[in-house]
Amino acid sequence: MSQNPPADTTDNPAKSMDELVALCKRRGFIFPASEIYDGINGFWDYGPLGTELKNNLRDAWWNDMVKSPPAGPDGEPLSILGVDSAIIQHPKTWAASGHVEGFNDPMVDDTETKQRFRADQLVGAWIGIGDRPELSAEEREERFFSPDRTIIASTAGEAAQTLLDDKKLLKPLRITSPFRGHLRDPKRILIADIEDPNGNRGQIQLELIPVDDIRNQPDQIPSPYSSKMGVLTEPRQFNLMFRTFVGATSGEDNVAYLRPETAQGIFLNYKNVLDTMRVKVPFGIAQIGKAFRNEVTPRNFIFRSREFEQMEIEWFCPPEDARKWYEFWCEVRKNWWKSIGLTDANLQMREHENDELAHYAKQGCGCFDVEYRFPFTYPGYGELEGVADRTDFDLRQHEEYSGAKLKYFDQERNEHYFPYVIEPSAGLSRGVLALLCEAFTPTPERKGSKYVMNFHPRMAPIQCAVFPLVNKDGMPEVARKLYDDLRRKYAVQFDVKQSIGKRYARMDEGGTPYCFTIDSETLENNTVTWRERDTAAQDRISIDRVAAFLADRIGG
Ligand code: GAP
Repeated sequence: MSQNPPADTTDNPAKSMDELVALCKRRGFIFPASEIYDGINGFWDYGPLGTELKNNLRDAWWNDMVKSPPAGPDGEPLSILGVDSAIIQHPKTWAASGHVEGFNDPMVDDTETKQRFRADQLVGAWIGIGDRPELSAEEREERFFSPDRTIIASTAGEAAQTLLDDKKLLKPLRITSPFRGHLRDPKRILIADIEDPNGNRGQIQLELIPVDDIRNQPDQIPSPYSSKMGVLTEPRQFNLMFRTFVGATSGEDNVAYLRPETAQGIFLNYKNVLDTMRVKVPFGIAQIGKAFRNEVTPRNFIFRSREFEQMEIEWFCPPEDARKWYEFWCEVRKNWWKSIGLTDANLQMREHENDELAHYAKQGCGCFDVEYRFPFTYPGYGELEGVADRTDFDLRQHEEYSGAKLKYFDQERNEHYFPYVIEPSAGLSRGVLALLCEAFTPTPERKGSKYVMNFHPRMAPIQCAVFPLVNKDGMPEVARKLYDDLRRKYAVQFDVKQSIGKRYARMDEGGTPYCFTIDSETLENNTVTWRERDTAAQDRISIDRVAAFLADRIGG
C-alpha cells in the first residue's frame, strides 16, 4: 500500500498506536510485563509516570463519585460508600453470579498455526473490483461466495485498520471512502469504496461472520492468520475466569477463581454495608480494584488485557425508579469523562443490541456503553465503560445460593423487596489508555519535542517542573528552594541535567503542563520563566507568585 494513501486520508486523524506505545515505553508510562523473558501476552506493568497517571484517574473517580458524589435528579447529594473486597471469594459466588455457567467466549483454533481467536470477532472481508460491487443486498445476504480474507476485530474501524496494514490484500487498491458504523449494528454489512491503479472501482464489504456459520462450515472460512481454508476448528465455549486452588491440595474441591469483575464483592457486602452504615435505598457502593479475565485474544495495547482494573458502582434503588437512575447515570458518567479531558467528539453513547447483553442485564433496557474513539477503532468507537440495568438478578441469586436474607426492608413502605441495581462500570486501565490516546499529539513543527502529551492538569503525572538554567551561579540553590516549597502540594520534578531544550522536550512527552526556569534574571529581580506545555509560550512571573499561579490552574 505504500504508493496508496491510507483509508480515510481526507479525514483520518487517527493517531499512530505504534508511536504512542513507543513513547509510553520511552517515558516510563507502560512496559510489557516480564519483558526480560520476552513478555507475557495480555499483561502490562505501569512505570513511574503511568502509575501516577493511573493513580490520578483512580483518585479523581473516587473523589467525584464517593467522597463528593454528584447531586441526584432531586438535587440532593447521593450517598455512595466504598468497599475493598477480596479478589478471591467463595467459589459459590461465581456459580450464583452466572459466571461459571455463562462467562464464556466462543473460541476457535487454527490447527496449523496453533493460534486462537474469538469466533464472535471474526470479520469477513469481501473485496470486489468490477463485477462484484453491484451485488444486490439479497445476494450479499446469501453470501454465496466465501470471504477473500478474515480479520479479527470488534469494530469497523479496527477491521479497517487491520486491512490497511495487510499489504498483501490491499496492495494495488485504494480505499476511497471510510467504513462507518459498528460491526454489531443490526445492519451488519459495512461497505467502503475502492479503486485499483487503472481507475476501476469496486467495494470492500465487511461483515461479522455469525458464530453459527463457523460452527456449521468451518472449512468454508479462511483462517485469519494464514487465509487457508480447512484449518479452523468448530467454536468451543471457553470460560474466561482464571482458576486457582486454595490450600495445600489442588483437587476440584479446592478450586477458586480470580474475580472477573469487582461487582460481586459489592453484592456480597451489600448487607454488611446496609447493617453498619445507616444508609437507605437508594444508595450506592463503590469499589476500585483488579479484575482478571483469561481473554482469548488480548490486544490493542492495554485495551483488552488479562489483568486490569475496574471502577464500579452498584446503585441500589426501588425497582420502579430503575429507569430514572439508569438515565441519570448514563448522563453523569459521560460528562465525567469529559471533565477530565476526553473531548466530546471522541465520546459517544451506544445502546447494546439484545444479543450483546451480559447474562445479568435486562432485555430491552439493558446496557449503554460510553465509547471512546481509540486510534485503533477510528473512525468507530470502542467500549470505555458500561452502564447496565442489572435488575435484582444478583441479589436474588446470592440469596438463593447462600440462604442469606438479602431483601431490603423499606420502613416508609413497610415492605421487603430486592432493590434493582444500576451499575456504572468503568475500566480504570482502559481509562488510562483513553487519556493517553487523547493526550498524544505529534508536534512536527516544534523544535526539540516530537510529541506533546497534553493531559488535563488534574491527570498529569508531573504537574510542574523546576529547572535551574545552568548548574552554577547560585541557580540550583534558588531552584531547589522553589522545588521544596512546591512539592508539598504538587507532583513536581527537579532536573538539572542536559540543555534546557532537552529538559522541556522531556516534560512535553511526560505531559507536564508547566515548567519554571531559574535564570540569571531571577538572581536580579526574583522572577522566573514559566513555560506552558501546549503552546510552548514563555513568560515571566515573580517567584513568590508561582504557588498561587499553580493553585489557579491546577487547584490545591
Ligand atoms: N461488572 C460489569 C462488568 O464487568 P464489563 O463490560 O465486562 O462489565 C466493564 O466490564 C469495564 O471493564 C469495560 O467497560 C472495560 O472498560 C473494562 N474491561 C473489561 N474487560 C477488560 C479487559 N480485558 N481489559 C481491560 N479492560 C477491560
